[in-house]
Amino acid sequence: MAQSSQRRPVRKAVFPVAGMGTRFLPATKAIPKEMLPIIDRPLIQYAVDEAREAGIEQLIFVTGRGKTAIVEHFDMAFELETTMAEREKSLAVLEPTRIQPGNLVAVRQQVPLGLGHAIWCARAIVGDEPFAIFLPDELMIANRGSTGCMKQMVEAYDEVGGNLISVLEVPREEVSSYGVIDPGAAQGALTEVRGLVEKPRREEAPSNLIISGRYILQPEVMRVLERQEKGAGGEIQLTDAMAQMIGTQPFHAVTFAGKRYDCGSKLGFVEATLALALARDDMAEDVRAMAARLLDQGS
Ligand code: G1P
Repeated sequence: MAQSSQRRPVRKAVFPVAGMGTRFLPATKAIPKEMLPIIDRPLIQYAVDEAREAGIEQLIFVTGRGKTAIVEHFDMAFELETTMAEREKSLAVLEPTRIQPGNLVAVRQQVPLGLGHAIWCARAIVGDEPFAIFLPDELMIANRGSTGCMKQMVEAYDEVGGNLISVLEVPREEVSSYGVIDPGAAQGALTEVRGLVEKPRREEAPSNLIISGRYILQPEVMRVLERQEKGAGGEIQLTDAMAQMIGTQPFHAVTFAGKRYDCGSKLGFVEATLALALARDDMAEDVRAMAARLLDQGS
């Protein structure tokens, strides 16, 4: 398709990871919440794996104080590797943490002014090209046989270009915790976005389709964020900036073929841990037996 070959590829991804993680205190007093492990990988690793599967080359972390462990995690640990090699241990387990030199950049969000502000902090590194955003709290696990969420979005982007967000349906009573779309025409997994509203009151929400933490945006959004306008909760909201782009550029939502776990909440975190353990061939049977035992004891 001549048209798709002209689209600028999505090579960069921004990961806003400056949040203080107060919901997980005291666990997150000295450790970034993104480093809390789901089984044997920190939460951030799942988002980075998803990005790399989608062909993203450059990772841009928007960090804050106390977040250096995230950058360390994706650095080469010379002493560890040398010791493991001397002991003839396989280094394959470290493969997901290897990022090409120069492909990891960390910028600071010095004051917590909102998600829109965090993304704006990455503007110099994003430059003049489309980019992806991952909110790592949202753990997106594809259905068996499907590609990851961002890869599904990149495929849709190759078709329609412009801006894309991943969406999913939630019960009406939950909409006020999220960004909500006003949906237009739908075709397959793609829905046109006619409007966006951040944390609407339930009775004012245009639908129950919420933004679920994955975005592909055009660089023009940075110019809107530059105005530093405050929205819901007194914060500079990414949703408000995106809403202003509707009508000037194509804007679509992609319904993800998979399951999303809200690892920003304790229950979601436990659910993700159990679900991933049950999906692993090396653990499923034992976890099932363990859960049955525990449920038995509890009754
Ligand atoms: C952010 C976004 C919101 C989105 C949500 C997904 O909200 O502003 O539009 O639906 O992430 O998790 P937050 O969770 O930071 O309040």
